Amino acid sequence: MIKYLGSKRRLATVIGELCAATGAHTAIDLFTGTTRIAQELKRRGMHVTACDSARYSEVFARCYVETDAAGVDSAALGEALAHLSTLPPVDGYVTETFCRASRFFHPDNGARIDAARDEIARSFAGGPLEPLLLTSLIEAADRVDSTTGVQMAYVKQWASRALRPLELREPELLEGGGRAVRGDAIELAQRLGPFDLAYLDPPYNQHRYFTNYHIWETLVAWDAPAHYGV
Ligand SMILES: C[S@@+](CC[C@H](N)C(=O)[O-])C[C@H]1O[C@@H](n2cnc3c(N)ncnc32)[C@H](O)[C@@H]1O
Repeated sequence: MIKYLGSKRRLATVIGELCAATGAHTAIDLFTGTTRIAQELKRRGMHVTACDSARYSEVFARCYVETDAAGVDSAALGEALAHLSTLPPVDGYVTETFCRASRFFHPDNGARIDAARDEIARSFAGGPLEPLLLTSLIEAADRVDSTTGVQMAYVKQWASRALRPLELREPELLEGGGRAVRGDAIELAQRLGPFDLAYLDPPYNQHRYFTNYHIWETLVAWDAPAHYGV
C-alpha cells in the first residue's frame, strides 16, 4: 500500500481486534484512504463498505474491498501485469509533467508509467482487472517516487528509491465481498446503511488530501490536467 498521511498501518491489528470484539457483521469505513482498516475488517469476516472522496481511494477500495479474490482470473491478471511491464516506454504526460518539468519520478520510470497507464485505458477500461491494474501501477509508482511521502513537493536530489526500476506486483487480494463508494462523507452517511459498525478517521487538519496526492488522482482520472508550479 502507498505511503499516506494518517494511514493506520501500525494500528490496523488493534483496531481490527476492537471492532471484531463488538460482534459486528457489517461495517462502514467512511474515510477509507489506503483501505487498510477496511481490509482488516474484511479479513475478519465483515462485509465492509469503504468510502472516500478521492478517486485513487475508490480504486484501492474496488481492488481490495469489492473484489473477491476467489473470483479473480489470476492467470489473466498475471499476464496483464507481465504485458504492462514489458511495453516500450512512452514519453507522455507523466514523463513531461512529473519527470522533466518537475522531478517526482525518474524519467525512465515516468515513461514506464505512461506506457502502462495508456495501455490500461486502451485494453482494460471498464473490465474487472482495471482496479487491480491501477492499484498495482499506483503502488509501483509510490515505491519509486522522489518525495518525502506527499506530493506538494519533490526532493532536490533523486531519492535512492527513485533510481530503482518500476515493478508492477500483484495486489494481495482477500476473499469475500464488499463495496466501494466515492463521495462526500456527510452526504454518504445519510444515504448508506444501516451498518453494525462505523469506523470514522477524518482528516486531522485543513490540508487537502487532493493536493498531497494529486499525482494519484491524475493517474486514475487520466485527464492530463493543465498544471502550474511543478
Ligand atoms: C486520515 S485519512 C484516512 C486514513 C485511512 N484510515 C487509512 O488508514 O489509510 C482521511 C481520509 O479522508 C478523506 N476525505 C477527506 N475529506 C472527505 C470527505 N468530505 N468525504 C469523504 N472522504 C474524505 C481523504 O481523502 C483521506 O483519505
